[in-house]
Amino acid sequence: MQGSNSKNIPSSVIRRVEKLRSEINHHNYLYYVLDNPEISDADYDALMRELKALEEQYPELITPDSPTQRVGAPVSEKFAPVPHAVPMLSLDDAFSPEEVIAFDQRVRKFLNHTHDITYMLEPKMDGLAVELIYENGVFTTGSTRGDGFTGEDVTANLRTVRAIPLRLVNPGKDPLPERLEARGEIFMNLKDFRELNKRREAEGQPPFANPRNAAAGSLRQLDPAVTASRPLDIFLYGAGRVTDRTFKTQEEILAYLRSVGLKTNPLIDRCRGIHRAIEYHDRIAAMRANLPYEIDGTVIKVNSLELQGQLGAKARSPRWAIAFKFQAARAITRIKDIILSIGRTGAVTPVAIMEPVKVGGVVVSRATLHNQDEIRRKDIRKGDWVIIQRAGDVIPEVVKPLEERRDGNEEKFEMPATCPVCGSKLVRKPGEAVWRCPNPECFPRLVKKISHFASKSAMDIDGLGPKVAEQLINAGLVRDLPDIYALTMDDLVSMERFGQKSAQNLLDAIEKSKDTTLPRFLYALGIRHLGEVAAQKLAEHFGSIEKIMQAGIEEISAIHGMGEELARSIVKWFQEEKNQTTVRKLLETGIRFKDRKTDTGEKPLQGLSFVFTGSLPTLKRSRAKAMVQEAGGRVLSAVSRNTSYVVAGENPGSKFEKAKKLGIPIISEEEFLNLIRK
Ligand code: IVH
Repeated sequence: MQGSNSKNIPSSVIRRVEKLRSEINHHNYLYYVLDNPEISDADYDALMRELKALEEQYPELITPDSPTQRVGAPVSEKFAPVPHAVPMLSLDDAFSPEEVIAFDQRVRKFLNHTHDITYMLEPKMDGLAVELIYENGVFTTGSTRGDGFTGEDVTANLRTVRAIPLRLVNPGKDPLPERLEARGEIFMNLKDFRELNKRREAEGQPPFANPRNAAAGSLRQLDPAVTASRPLDIFLYGAGRVTDRTFKTQEEILAYLRSVGLKTNPLIDRCRGIHRAIEYHDRIAAMRANLPYEIDGTVIKVNSLELQGQLGAKARSPRWAIAFKFQAARAITRIKDIILSIGRTGAVTPVAIMEPVKVGGVVVSRATLHNQDEIRRKDIRKGDWVIIQRAGDVIPEVVKPLEERRDGNEEKFEMPATCPVCGSKLVRKPGEAVWRCPNPECFPRLVKKISHFASKSAMDIDGLGPKVAEQLINAGLVRDLPDIYALTMDDLVSMERFGQKSAQNLLDAIEKSKDTTLPRFLYALGIRHLGEVAAQKLAEHFGSIEKIMQAGIEEISAIHGMGEELARSIVKWFQEEKNQTTVRKLLETGIRFKDRKTDTGEKPLQGLSFVFTGSLPTLKRSRAKAMVQEAGGRVLSAVSRNTSYVVAGENPGSKFEKAKKLGIPIISEEEFLNLIRK
């Protein structure tokens, strides 16, 4: 921190900011790198909030490596090129133990070695390679592999990845290297991938085919806010140029990366002799289905850097390593039928219904055929025997039909002219591959529209999923969004599987959803291409729904990170009279926005910070914390000079003593409640 800049800032604030940053960095490391958090999410959030508040108050204290500075401004239309000091090579593939043994023989022959070679063994992550440059411990540049010699500057996006420390830790006495180029694989965990695809489908966007594509697409976003909303992860597996340090082995490099706080794969191992490497591969293959991420094989690397140097590299790949790849899980089955699935935005997707078959340990009976062009290109017919493929968890894919097995009874697929559900004439925009049902009230569209509106990131109406939406529509109770707010107890108990209690729960959830925020409301409307991030930006820029309804394409697309297609879609949506009516009716039900920006009323605990210790007589700790936050105050996990009050219950801990020592007012639950009521 610059002394000259912080002249008028109390030294206690400077110390507190430094303390908060190092605590947050430490908890980030425990959570994202070691996967072993020590504090609750709520406590972590409280630390972040306190740091943000202090930085807002004293902007001079903000440094680029502060944990609050992960999401920066969008880059202009292109990523800048970044040359790699040491080329980023790729790996030769092997698919069988024989090929791996042949690799080992080549290595030993080249080195004139008769004894066993020591290898490092690593899972081969199925993501994309990046290089992270740390200068004196600070993350300064991150780039993609590109053509191996020059990559693209994706620093702003990599900064949003929580597992990438913005500042390294220094485990030793020597200073951190002036320059450290760490290399590794960016990937998306399967759970996050599934959630992302669900969200995309809810938003009317095409799902990603696999986690690799999702990771690559997320990393190459011009707007880091979009990348920040996509949960990416990383494992580091090597180094480019490193100053002030020398290493003897790959194992030492990995240990060093780990020691400075970078994330490495815990499944990495070392062995002597190629047969042990093959055993490792089999072991990893057996674990594959249960891993939280996708791998496509193992990597076998000569451990000694001296031997690596002697072996050298060919044009694109080193002679000292090989990728031992898994065969993609494939199976043969028959297409019983090709049906059409209708999405929320009306997109009509052909889906193959197949005889159930096991692929890579999972029974599969459906596969998306994407669109008519794709079906034509692969010449897939109803009744065909087909090869299907599944890589890890990914949506199964029809690779190709087995033409030699055809008996003449197969039927070519033709996209019908009308919607199979409501009979509306299907439409297709010039240049687009998808056909759409234009009828907004078409049953499956309506179901998805209602359940999207009610989903967690939208209006968050617990209990109103697709099943209940179907019931409500079938019962004629809901035909459009505002109808949700007119539902009564009588309506609900008249439906199957609804008792008094579940009906009341749903009514309560509906009532609660009226207290929302503008971005949630915008997102809930289900405007095509309008995701959560864009909804947030729209709300921030315009501040009110009325202004958004009147905004033009130019004004919207001028907001950083909002494309013209999205702007068009928003303007068109609000221009339609029935949509205007929907919004008006929704607002008439009493939906209110409690956005921070539009919130001007002074809150009772504004500017105050609280620490809780001991068990409170009536309130749960989580409830008390929520109350503080709702009332505009902050909850801290530790007592400091800046703490306004310590709320002490029974058996208070060391925080109580500390508060006494620092002279911080200590209050009871009752006094706390009085404070809030004021
Ligand atoms: S080492 C010269 N180690 O595989 C060494 N690569 O086909 C080059 N990959 O571009 C890379 N896991 O994206 C290495 N443990 C691992 C890896 C790994 C995944 C990827 C990486 C690379 C590609 C090479």
